[in-house]
Amino acid sequence: MIKKGIVLAGGMGTRMSPLTKAINKQLLPVYDKPLIFYPLSILMLAGIKNILVIVNKGQLNQFRKILPEKNHLGINIQYREQKKPEGLPHAFILGEKFIGKDNVSLILGDNFFYGQSLTKILKKSVSLKNGAKIFLHPVKRPQLYGVASINNKQKVVTLTEKPKTPKSNLAVTGLYFFDNNVVKFSKKIKPSKRGELEIIDLLNIYKKKKKLSAEFIGRGGAWLDTGNIKDFYDATNFVSAIENRQGLKIACLEEIALNNGWIKRKDIKEAIKFYGNCEYSSYLKKI
Ligand code: TTP
Repeated sequence: MIKKGIVLAGGMGTRMSPLTKAINKQLLPVYDKPLIFYPLSILMLAGIKNILVIVNKGQLNQFRKILPEKNHLGINIQYREQKKPEGLPHAFILGEKFIGKDNVSLILGDNFFYGQSLTKILKKSVSLKNGAKIFLHPVKRPQLYGVASINNKQKVVTLTEKPKTPKSNLAVTGLYFFDNNVVKFSKKIKPSKRGELEIIDLLNIYKKKKKLSAEFIGRGGAWLDTGNIKDFYDATNFVSAIENRQGLKIACLEEIALNNGWIKRKDIKEAIKFYGNCEYSSYLKKI
């Protein structure tokens, strides 16, 4: 069972400069809320309430303003600073103490997920005891992503980073579930030529042991890696279209916490005070 999750919210945001020169990408708005609300909401939908947020050195106080350790969301938030981007598996080295003896999930702070059956898939996947699980999504240009192919038992058989001739159209998204060996394995891998620990090397350790399986965020779902300007604004347009049509919010953290039974009506009132007089608060009043 996975009860802990890490949101990796540091990084340079080079591709989105100059927007990201002064402000971390994860604090930029995707329509009506900061980007980090979206990946955090995914962990919460999975039922994970112990959360470590990894941020760049010097940016902690900005994140604390919007997601304080003492919060009205019924979740435990802890922070760790990362001096420089040393790669995704570095999260498990920084998070060793937080993880302890437990299994853990990792979500990239700039990944946007949405879909009808997503909650069901997440709730099923948190039962992971052994091995690792990745989440795949069909894309038009797999060449740009990590690409996996699987067998009929949903075990991953090939895994290639940005392949010239992809074996499938299934991209590896920025959501991962791992057993506790992930800490040990992350310490074992060596930095790549670009000087980072690579997630693909970590996943390959599990794959070699035949312990890497996959779930699908099928065509009914959406996944955007919002690391570039185009996808970033696509995410905003997507959220705006859905929210304005349905009158329901995507990634309203308080609503998820309330549905999970983690908070009560009085916490929603506190949240309204915290956010002040805004559209997000009006929505909270309604729920
Ligand atoms: P990337 O998109 O690989 O990197 P980035 O956000 O720095 O962007 P760019 O390539 O434009 O410079 O990172 C994916 C996510 O993981 C992103 O939310 C930042 C985060 N991250 C860290 O927090 N620490 C790290 O060491 C790395 C590599 C990424």
